[in-house]
Amino acid sequence: PDRTNVAIIGMGTVGAGVAQLLIDHGDRTARHAGKTIWLSKAVVRDLSKPRGIELPEGVLTDSIDDVLNDPEIDVVIQLMGGLSPAREVMLRAMEAGKDIVTANKALLAEHGAELFTRARELGRSIAFEAAVAGGIPIIANISQCLSANQIESLEGILNGTSNFIVSQMDEKGAGYDETVKRAQELGYAEADPAMDVDGTDAAQKLAILSHLAFGATVDWRDIPRQGIDGLDPADLVYARQLGYRIKLLATARLVDGELELSVAPTLVAIGTPMAEVRDAFNAIRVVGDAVGPVFYHGLGAGQMPTASAVVADVIDTAVGRTPITFETLEYFSAERPPRTAQRD
Ligand code: NAP
Ligand code: HSE
Repeated sequence: PDRTNVAIIGMGTVGAGVAQLLIDHGDRTARHAGKTIWLSKAVVRDLSKPRGIELPEGVLTDSIDDVLNDPEIDVVIQLMGGLSPAREVMLRAMEAGKDIVTANKALLAEHGAELFTRARELGRSIAFEAAVAGGIPIIANISQCLSANQIESLEGILNGTSNFIVSQMDEKGAGYDETVKRAQELGYAEADPAMDVDGTDAAQKLAILSHLAFGATVDWRDIPRQGIDGLDPADLVYARQLGYRIKLLATARLVDGELELSVAPTLVAIGTPMAEVRDAFNAIRVVGDAVGPVFYHGLGAGQMPTASAVVADVIDTAVGRTPITFETLEYFSAERPPRTAQRD
């Protein structure tokens, strides 16, 4: 068909950005997909809330069934956040023959194995580039572009809200509470910002990356983690006097064939690329045995950077080019130890 019909479930920060790209830049999506990508429905809870975007007549609805029962809708863009009903909605959508695009890392970290197994059984795809590091194409890079490598380590700033808070406190002397509030206003924070500042969100993203990079099935709760919520502003001052900044780093490293994982505020030497990552930017340093170190940097949270990744996934899905193939899915959902070098 020369048209793929899509529906967005959840028109908050990210959903509204996705709708805006689809509506305002249909020429772009059509050029890359070779066909029209048509926004058929957008689901919200509260129809009266302003969305900051003008949607065509009949698109906005408060009924998820309007999407799930419509055989004309090919792709469901799940941006409602949370675990339930997001999990049930994804399962029902796939059972109704729809492919999925989502940015919901909490759901994938919690129920990824079940969802990907079901996708494989049903012959459906789940694309999730926006689930880790917002606009940085880290999922495609790790699962495709670096696939000739044994990944040896990855470390990064994976939570934009925490980095925004620490940057504002460190560089502008801003207070913790006011900066958390600002991160919420800017659309960076999770619905429950505790997940950002206590290290949960970074641990969930690290668990997803570890599946892809090391083939390891990791329960994010098992990752030793500490957030920025316990930082004292004086820590930032002392660190700076010693030539460091404090960054919330998520780290995965193969050591003697074992995978070591952690999320913790870490001293990073001023002048190194990681120390210069500011505000809601994320960065990831990946070391592969063939490519060596590769450094990725870009906006990890916020409306349009995240929408950029979601819409790229929608285009890939529309043309049947979802970055994660079924073979990868099998690998992703399998209980396997981390990969080690062949001679080990
Ligand atoms: P958000 O602003 O809280 O938006 C959530 C939307 O989902 C709202 O429009 C809400 O409707 C709708 N919704 C929630 N429960 C629903 C239900 N039961 N039925 C119908 N609609 C429902 O969240 P967001 O920041 O856009 O984040 C969406 C997802 O993307 C989350 O999984 C988040 O972790 C992920 N993500 C966010 C960012 C970011 O920078 N914000 C970046 C990467 C990934 P109402 O508006 O009517 O309440
Ligand atoms: N709350 C998340 C963050 C959104 O601040 O990084 C992007 O996943």
